[in-house]
Amino acid sequence: MYLGLDLGTSGVKALLIDAGQKIIGSGHASLDVSRPHPGWSEQNPADWIRACDAAIAELKASHPKELAAVKGIGLSGHMHGATLLDAGDQVLRPCILWNDTRSHAEAAALDADPHFRQLTGNIVFPGFTAPKLAWVKNNEPAVFAEVAKVLLPKDFLRLWLTGEHISEMSDSAGTSWLDVGKRRWSSELLAATSLDERQMPSLVEGTEKAGALRAELAVSWGIASGTPVAGGAGDNAASACGMGTVGAGHAFVSLGTSGVLFAANASYLPNPASAVHTFCHALPNTWHQMGVILSATDSLNWLSEISGKKAGELTAELGDVLKAPSGVSFLPYLSGERTPHNDSAIRGSFTGLAHESSRAVLTQAVLEGVAFAFRDSLEALKTAGTDLTRVTAIGGGSRSRYWLKAIATALQVPVDIPADGDFGAAFGAARLGLIAATGADPLAVCTAPRTDATIEPDAALGGAYADAYQRYRALYPAIKGVTA
Ligand code: XUL
Repeated sequence: MYLGLDLGTSGVKALLIDAGQKIIGSGHASLDVSRPHPGWSEQNPADWIRACDAAIAELKASHPKELAAVKGIGLSGHMHGATLLDAGDQVLRPCILWNDTRSHAEAAALDADPHFRQLTGNIVFPGFTAPKLAWVKNNEPAVFAEVAKVLLPKDFLRLWLTGEHISEMSDSAGTSWLDVGKRRWSSELLAATSLDERQMPSLVEGTEKAGALRAELAVSWGIASGTPVAGGAGDNAASACGMGTVGAGHAFVSLGTSGVLFAANASYLPNPASAVHTFCHALPNTWHQMGVILSATDSLNWLSEISGKKAGELTAELGDVLKAPSGVSFLPYLSGERTPHNDSAIRGSFTGLAHESSRAVLTQAVLEGVAFAFRDSLEALKTAGTDLTRVTAIGGGSRSRYWLKAIATALQVPVDIPADGDFGAAFGAARLGLIAATGADPLAVCTAPRTDATIEPDAALGGAYADAYQRYRALYPAIKGVTA
């Protein structure tokens, strides 16, 4: 048995697979995000530990024998978070998350230093880790002075699981401190934020062993003490391992809290100007590119909250047949946007509202707005040298057929729906646990699931969608001056 642990923004998932990669069981525990000021987004690392423990307890309750047979553990987690520890490994402040934009001024300042784009292959986005440390230095100097280690969220879980400070390439590529082409920390970039390599964890590949389970936790969960923990991956690279998106030409669209259009690459293909992210993959000597939109299902969840209807109820009101865009447009920039704008100040909008704009019309506009944001990412990937011809859909939002039809039609590429199963980040993490524990060939393990159905772009609505996309494109420059 192999255990995948995924620290997501909205909860921790513990997933158990057997040696044949069959899913045996899972446990889940929810997490909240705290937004104490506009643009801030934080979590308390102690809550991750509580949630992880609760998710494993649920798994233990349903599958005690199978859990006891675990031979390897893999980790995945939301990326870019700054978990700051003092010399005694005590957490110094709440973790500043991937969708927190408070450090936009610091990010712009670092991004103006050409070494960052040259060495990391990416824009220094406000959500990345380095500008957060610059913000802490400027605003909480007493905290900054105490920082002995900076860990990414899943690597903080590893510290709890194993007692070790270790990270891996895919997650570390999102810090703005990694030389992404050479897969090593850049002392030059660390120095630019008044840090050095001693404050970073050591680095492995996602498929390598990176610590062993502590006796105390092993006893409480009934797993063998010393069970190896794999390097694992940032959540997007972990999902890619789960989906078999590991070879050039393979791509997925992920409808989670954030939205990601992810393409695997055989080599390092940076293109920071396009606002595409170019990161190390979890497998040795592979990289990937992705366009990232900050609010995907988060946009629908926002509408759900203000309308008092569950997200599933809102999408059910649309039915299954794709409609032509109504003329109401939605920009999903609830917490700014990364690809293609790199704009943390921009905010979302509805335009074109009329008396007849019902709740269903607003839902439709939200789904279309997110679909058009993915189209922006598709265009950005094109300018970064990657032309996608089909994508596979994953993530909670992909349960809505309407949304997938809107995405296929906005992107003008077929969207594959994987056969029933759970091929997300926790599954990818479990696969990495299997590889690290057994030494299996990563490419033989990280295969693609069977495709259950393919959603083709709606030919009859192609023109209407193209027109609506042009309206969508025109809106960003139009609202830019009036939302800040
Ligand atoms: C990727 C990103 C998000 C988080 C959320 O750059 O910020 O996808 O990893 O899970």
